[in-house]
Amino acid sequence: MSNPYHPVVPPAQTPNRDLLQLEVMGDDQATIDEINQLRKEKNAVILAHNYQRPEVQAIADYVGDSLGLSRQAAATAADVIVFAGVHFMAETAAILNPDKTVLLPDLRAGCSLADTITAQALRTWKENHPGGLVVTYVNTTADVKAESDYCCTSGNAVAVVESLPKDAPVLFAPDRFLAAHVMRHTGRHMDVWQGACHVHEAIRPEDIAHQQRQYPDAELLIHPECGCSSKILALYPELELYSTEGMVHRAQQSSADQFIVVTETGMVTRLQHDVPDKEFIPVSRTACCEYMKMITLTNILHSLRTLTPRVTVPEDIRVRALRPIKRMVKLG
Ligand code: 13P
Ligand code: SF4
Repeated sequence: MSNPYHPVVPPAQTPNRDLLQLEVMGDDQATIDEINQLRKEKNAVILAHNYQRPEVQAIADYVGDSLGLSRQAAATAADVIVFAGVHFMAETAAILNPDKTVLLPDLRAGCSLADTITAQALRTWKENHPGGLVVTYVNTTADVKAESDYCCTSGNAVAVVESLPKDAPVLFAPDRFLAAHVMRHTGRHMDVWQGACHVHEAIRPEDIAHQQRQYPDAELLIHPECGCSSKILALYPELELYSTEGMVHRAQQSSADQFIVVTETGMVTRLQHDVPDKEFIPVSRTACCEYMKMITLTNILHSLRTLTPRVTVPEDIRVRALRPIKRMVKLG
C-alpha cells in the first residue's frame, strides 16, 4: 500500500533561519527577572529542547533531548510546565500530566516530520499489515500515538525495537532515516513510513565535506534523522549516529577537540555550554528549525503571566497514547 510522504512546506512568514540572525535577539534582563519571579510564584518549570534559542536554553530549568524532556515531564512536581519546544513535545507532557497546566508559548511551533502522518493514514496502514507492531517516533501527534503500540525517541529507538518479540512484524513511522539506522543496528526488517524532517533531510553530504575541508581534524556528530547519513556511513562505516543527548556524551568522552555538528544549529549552543573546552562547528548555518525558534523569552513571559496558550489532549486519546509513551520512557 502506498504511504506517500507529504512534505510540509514551512509557513512563509517564519523567523529568519540564519543562526547569526537568531543570536542578535539577545536577552533582556527585565524580561528574565519577571520570568524568574513568575516561575517561583506559579510553581512552574521551564523545559527546553536542545534546539532552542541560546537565550531560552540559558533560562531553562532543564535542557535536553526528547527522551530526557519526556522523563522530566513525567517526574516533575511543578504545577505548571512551560514547554520550550514544539507541539508534540508539549502534548507528550500533557499526556503524562493530565492534572498540570502545560503551556506552549507559541502554538504555531509544529513539526514537519509529525505532519507526515495522520491517525487515519496510520489506521489504514495497520489494516494493510495485520498483526504488525506499530512503533512511532515521539515526533507524532497524540492521536497517532494513540494508534501505536510503542513510542521511541532517537535516543532509544534501537532498544525499543530490540525489546519486541523477534517474530513480530514491525511497522515503523514516520522517519525513514531513523528507521534505516534502527534496521542497521538490529538487523531486523521493518515496514517503514516514508516521512522525514525538512531540516535534517536538507543536510547534504556536500555540506559535511565543505566543513571537513575547513576543519580536517574535526569529528563528525551526526543525528539519525539526517538524510545524508547513509551516504556518510558508506564512506565511514565505523561511524556512530547520536541523538542530541548522545552527542553531548560523545563530545565529553572523545579525544577530539573539534566537532562538526550534523543536526539543527541549536545543538551547538548546548554542546558549547556543556563541553566548553572544545569547539563545535554547525554543519550548515541554515540547518535551522523555524518551529523550534518560535519560542522566545517574550512569549515565555507572556505564557507565564497569562497561563496560556495551554496544550490539552482529549481524555480518550490521552489514555490510549499514555501506554506507548510509558513504554518509551521506561526503555533505553
Ligand atoms: P532528539 O532530541 O530526541 O535527538 O530529537 C531531535 C529532534 O528533531 C526533535 O525534534
Ligand atoms: Fe520537527 Fe525537524 Fe523541527 Fe525536529 S527539527 S521539531 S523533527 S521539524
